[in-house]
This record gives sequence, structure tokens and C-alpha cells, in this order.
Amino acid sequence: MIHIPKAEYTRRRKALMAQMEPNSIAILPAAAVAIRNRDVEHVYRQDSDFQYLSGFPEPEAVIVLMPGRPHGEYVLFCRERNAERELWDGLRAGTEGAIRDFGADDAFPITDIHDILPGLIEGRDRVYSAMGSNAEFDRHLMEWINIIRSKAHLGAQPPNEFVALDHLLHDMRLYKSAAEVKVMREAARISCAAHVRAMQASRAGLREFSLEAELDYEFRKGGAKMPAYGSIVAAGRNSCILHYQQNDALLKDGDLVLIDAGCEIDCYASDITRTWPVNGKFSPEQQAIYEVVLAAQEAAFAEIAPNKHWNQAHEATVQVITAGLVRLGLLQGDVDELIAGEAYKPFYMHRAGHWLGMDVHDVGEYKVGGEWRVLEVGMTLTVEPGIYISPDNQSVAKKWRGIGVRIEDDVVVTKQGCDILTGGVPKTVADIEALMAAAR
Ligand code: GLY
Ligand code: MN
Ligand code: MN
Repeated sequence: MIHIPKAEYTRRRKALMAQMEPNSIAILPAAAVAIRNRDVEHVYRQDSDFQYLSGFPEPEAVIVLMPGRPHGEYVLFCRERNAERELWDGLRAGTEGAIRDFGADDAFPITDIHDILPGLIEGRDRVYSAMGSNAEFDRHLMEWINIIRSKAHLGAQPPNEFVALDHLLHDMRLYKSAAEVKVMREAARISCAAHVRAMQASRAGLREFSLEAELDYEFRKGGAKMPAYGSIVAAGRNSCILHYQQNDALLKDGDLVLIDAGCEIDCYASDITRTWPVNGKFSPEQQAIYEVVLAAQEAAFAEIAPNKHWNQAHEATVQVITAGLVRLGLLQGDVDELIAGEAYKPFYMHRAGHWLGMDVHDVGEYKVGGEWRVLEVGMTLTVEPGIYISPDNQSVAKKWRGIGVRIEDDVVVTKQGCDILTGGVPKTVADIEALMAAAR
């Protein structure tokens, strides 16, 4: 199984601590277990920031980083070993495992955090935390601060600065290391296999969930614990619903099906969209729209390179899509004026992509100092133009209505431009039709 090596977590903690102000402390809680219903839990997914700094996969844990502390800079609070609980729910690292296997300098039972953590905070000037994203944790933090304040008459010094950790941490997460790109390539490889399998299985008379099952099979077989987000399997007019989730409609002869799905490996996402004809053969209208979207994506790839800014790829897609809609008679007028008036928006209402990483819509600023961010080597993003012609759009000829096409790939910025991570699934009309014909 491809995963992030232990040494990388150490490197990340050191890199974060090197950016923290002197005499400060960072505190991050693990994700809580989410209840699905009564005593059934959702599949556990670690918080991305917590995972990024520790690789520690358990709930009920707290990372504490204290740069320069002689007795150890990295303290982990976690669940203790418990034979009874482990019999029912599975093994725990325990405090010994936290030190032995996860590189903590010191570890304490999570049940002791209220007694120990105020002492670790005390005397430090500044606390870094993800303020505002976890109400329960924020409340605890204030309780710990108040414990220190209550001892002020004994000389205890509460911190007086509270800083959002996000800025430092999320900027680090934006630049992917070689190990991260390797894991993302693996997630992409498995997701490509899943899309290929769904294309091969596509038949009129099946339902959307039949294809979702094909995706899930490849995800799990490849070692992915779960999809990186709810898979979108949208046939016919459902392809015009951007985040369609129902996945239960019939696949009809003559319709397109749009699948937006990707798995997650070691908490790194992939995010692929392909659109193909249910019966394996594009109609002339479907092909015409498809070719415009594909050309828009190609134009976007050409605008992804170091020193190009974030919005250039989006602008390229708007140009190609607007010109294409005019050429096909779906829009009338001068292309530049139509772009200025955003006439393309009823057909193309989202952006050309987003950062991709541990979160499918990954962290990282898109603008810096009010200007679009300039791309740098190691940034990973999606490129996903689309055209969606509403079934209710009375201003276009009937033959176009209900066609929705999106094509989405994942790329990493390289010195030369960008490298497509998701090239393993066909994309041209000819290649899709050939793959589907071979599977019939
Ligand atoms: N799957 C969500 C997106 O493509 O942004
Ligand atoms: Mn996406
Ligand atoms: Mn997607």
C-alpha cells in the first residue's frame, strides 16, 4: 500500500514549528466520531489538518506542538489501551504506541488532558489553533485558559494572543511533496480504473447506482477506504444537476451519463469526471457539446504552469466555451461581449477547478494580496470545465435540452507546465466509443 512515510510527518511538524513565533504552542484536536443513527457510526475519517501533522488515525486525540520545549516538542493526548474496548471496537495505539509508532516525544491519556494541558499552555505567549471550526474544542480551550487565569495570583501567566493556525498550515498543505504526489497518483490510478469499469458496464436499463457499484468495487479493490466525496452518477437530465446525489434513476438509451467520482488513499483525494453515452455512441448534439468541453479543458491545461496565475485556466475555458456555444447557435452575438456580459453562465456556472489534496476542495488561498495566486511547482488542482443545458431552457432548440457534460482531471504543476494524474481513463469521443464497443 502506498502511503505517506513516517519521516514526512516529522518533517511537517518541524516545518510548522519553524514558522511559529517563539514561545508559542499549537493545539489541534482529532475529528470526532460522527453518529449516523442511534449506535451506528459513520466510517471514521481523521481531520485533514490533524492527519497532516501526525498520521495518527484515531479519534479522541489532541496534538500539542511546543517549539523549543526541552522535554519534547510534540505531545500527543490519545486513548489508552483498553482490552475490553479493543475486543469490541479494534486495536488502539495507546500512549506507548503514540511514542513508538507515531513519533510523539511524550504521550498522555486523553482523559488527563484537563489536568495536564493547562500546565503546558501556561507561560506561553501565543496559542495557535483552528479557531471557529470546532465549537466543543474552542470551549475546552477557553476552559483551559480560565484554569490558568484562576491561578494568576500564584504567578501563572495565561497566553494573551490567540492565532488561527490555518494560515500557516494551509499554505504548507498547498505545496505537495514528492511523497504526496505519489499517493495522489495512486488515488488517481484507482479512480481511473473505476471510471473505465463503469464505462464498460454501461447499458440502457441499468440504474445509476449500478454504475456506482462498479466504482465502489474498484475503489475498495484498490485499497481505498472510501470515496473522497459522494459519487455523482447522473444520467440524462440529471447531468445538469452539478452535485446530484440521488443516483437511482434509469439509464436510458440515447442519454448521456455523467460520473464525478474519485477515491481517497491515505487521506488524499482524487476527483475525476467523465461523461459518456449510455449506449456507447454519442448523438451529433452530444458529441458537439462534448467536443467544446474537451477543447476548453485542453485550453486550460495550456494555462497551467509556474508563473501563470490561478485564473488563467478558468479564463481559457470561458473563452472556448463561449465561442463554442456561439458556433453551435446556443448563444448569439460577439464572443468578447458575451464574455463581458457573462452570457455563458446559464451554461457554465462553476469555475474551471479547485485545489486538490487531503480535502477534495483543498485548503489554500486562491488570491494573495487581492491578486490571483501565481502557480508554483507542486500545487495540485482539478481542471473541470462543463456545459449544462437545462431541460427547461426554452431559449435553445429542443434537441439540445437536458445535455450536461463535464470533463474533469487532476493535475500537478511541474517546472514545464503540468502533469495530468488522471490520464488513465479515455476522454476523446473516439477513445470512449472504442472502449465501450469493445465491452459489448
Ligand atoms: N466533485 C466535486 C467537484 O468536482 O468539485
Ligand atoms: Mn472537482
Ligand atoms: Mn469532481
